[in-house]
Amino acid sequence: MAENFYQETIQSPKSPFDLSLRPPLFSEFQGQARVKERLELMVAAAKQRGDVLEHILLSGPPGLGKTSLAFILANSMGVNIKSTSGPMIEKAGDLAGLLTTLERGDILFIDEIHRLQPAIEEYLYPAMEDFRLDIIIDQGPNARSVRLNLPKFTLVGATTRAGLISSPLRSRFGMTSRLDYYSTEELTNVIDRSAGLIAIEIDREGAGEIAARSRGTPRIANNLLRWVRDYAQVKASGAINKEVADLALKMLDIDNDGLDEMDKRLLTALISRFQGGPVGLNSLAVSLGEDPGTIEEVNEPYLIQEGYLQRTAQGRVALPKAYKKLGLERTSHGQKELF
Ligand SMILES: Nc1ncnc2c1ncn2[C@@H]1O[C@H](COP(=O)(O)OP(=O)(O)OP(=O)(O)O)[C@@H](O)[C@H]1O
Ligand SMILES: [Mg+2]
Repeated sequence: MAENFYQETIQSPKSPFDLSLRPPLFSEFQGQARVKERLELMVAAAKQRGDVLEHILLSGPPGLGKTSLAFILANSMGVNIKSTSGPMIEKAGDLAGLLTTLERGDILFIDEIHRLQPAIEEYLYPAMEDFRLDIIIDQGPNARSVRLNLPKFTLVGATTRAGLISSPLRSRFGMTSRLDYYSTEELTNVIDRSAGLIAIEIDREGAGEIAARSRGTPRIANNLLRWVRDYAQVKASGAINKEVADLALKMLDIDNDGLDEMDKRLLTALISRFQGGPVGLNSLAVSLGEDPGTIEEVNEPYLIQEGYLQRTAQGRVALPKAYKKLGLERTSHGQKELF
């Protein structure tokens, strides 16, 4: 269980627990001060003018609050939001179906927008720019183009892979904001808020302990909180303090820096099987029996951010912090040329 804890919590975001803890308003959304400030300003300006919000692209690692922000935007503008995701839009007709149900000012939220098919993207350009959709109906000699005029709407796109967004699509967003990992203090506030909502007794040190081991990610913080609550209920008096949190997280094999078994297996493989790299993602994934996409999107971003690992043109390279973490020495032949 421990090995896949992050993968599971990251990949199953739609649990009721998650939904009930989703902040509905800017005032309840912790952290990300700069992004929040910009979005609040855009909302205020659009409202003052009686205008529609510009198209907004939100990027950043999973579980940092992109979907939450899209819903907060709709709430604070007082508009409807329709939610879909890149892979769900298979045909131009699917897109037309969504766009034609929108009213002026409504938000269309497209999650994983980097996974839109190129053909669908082409349809999206005039819809975003000129609020029209030219779709081809029928085939062969009967094929004809039909123009649909759309109400002025706001597209909010979310992506975990900003680099994969084509530049024509990116340039059609009026605002692009990147969410970053949260500080321990911000996550402590997230945990405090969640604990209050679901009536868990926790002190500030207990919340801080969970926060420090949540990899800068609110979704993980909330999931760890739920686990620690279960632990506290069965093994302690039900209340969470630093000691209870520590014991509960040890039981999940999550260490003091928030690394789990999978992270450590990854670093160990990199260092002992590939002499610290550089090694390609696929070779590394095969040696771990893990999916390259999961490694790249779930494990690596945090390891990179925390300075355990580096992505270079030649492949993945272990940094000194990784050797230290595992209590290993760098061998003399390990990437001598890189240091
Ligand atoms: N700033 C925040 N303050 C409080 N809670 C938050 C915040 N951001 C996220 N959360 C919590 O984390 C959960 C995950 O957030 P959300 O679904 O918005 O992330 P996401 O960036 O859309 O992730 P994904 O890329 O996986 O879709 C939310 O349900 C909410 O409980
Ligand atoms: Mg989301």
